[in-house]
Amino acid sequence: MRIQVENISKSIKGKPILRDVSLTIASGQSLALIGPNGSGKSTLLRVMAGLLSADRGRVTVDGDRVDKLSPRTLAQRLGFVTQEAGTTDAIPVIEAVKLGRTPWLSFAAPFRTNDQQIVDQAMRAMAISEYKNTLFNALSGGERQRVHIARVLAQTPQVFLLDEPTNHLDIRHQIAIIDWVKQQNATVVLALHDLNHAFACDRVAVMNGGALAAFGPPKDVLVPSVIEPVFKVGVQQNHSNYSDHPVLTFVKYKAA
Ligand SMILES: Nc1ncnc2c1ncn2[C@@H]1O[C@H](COP(=O)(O)OP(=O)(O)OP(=O)(O)O)[C@@H](O)[C@H]1O
Ligand SMILES: [Mg+2]
Repeated sequence: MRIQVENISKSIKGKPILRDVSLTIASGQSLALIGPNGSGKSTLLRVMAGLLSADRGRVTVDGDRVDKLSPRTLAQRLGFVTQEAGTTDAIPVIEAVKLGRTPWLSFAAPFRTNDQQIVDQAMRAMAISEYKNTLFNALSGGERQRVHIARVLAQTPQVFLLDEPTNHLDIRHQIAIIDWVKQQNATVVLALHDLNHAFACDRVAVMNGGALAAFGPPKDVLVPSVIEPVFKVGVQQNHSNYSDHPVLTFVKYKAA
């Protein structure tokens, strides 16, 4: 599904948080949202998810405004994992993942074998099958994160909005998430702090002070001239035999 963000502006308590943000993501493409702390990434994702209304502009998914769709239709199309996706609920992992099927169930369409297969597959994809009977609140931070992602996988949306999905994850599971993004047929938008991970996406959007500072293919955006002034660090591009893109390393900013 194609996502269109058009001229989104949002102020909270008189403070501008998003300033006229516009971008388009083609169906099946992935977008990395990067930017310093407080630059507006999570707020933009919440507007894109239809959870926060903008003061101006609109967000559409395949032409339909997200703030006009019913919660059920929206949840069938779009899955969102928030940055602080927390619940301390004492429910077994499998029940937490099953919640992802909710938008597809009704009196006429109860939970069936097919739904169970989707849930099992989502748990396998996030390597949490062995915890299926463990209580959610007994898991580690990274394990909880994988349960949240498994829940939106079970939701089978065509658009995934993931706010720092690799946060809390060990390096193996970070790579697994980035790999999953590359293989997706769905449209994926993810906020990231590891700029090297952003190379895996089709497009990169750089947020700075609530505005879009740059938007384009990773090789055009993840370059020192764009990154240095926004993040206020020195950036060096390095060659790695393990990587098909330059690997960025960072040093403390030495402003001229
Ligand atoms: N409910 C709110 N009330 C007041 N200010 C808010 C609210 N939500 C967000 N903000 C402010 O909006 C700005 C952008 O916040 P946001 O969470 O979108 O940043 P972010 O880019 O996701 O940052 P991080 O990298 O730390 O996750 C911040 O300055 C934050 O303090
Ligand atoms: Mg955030």
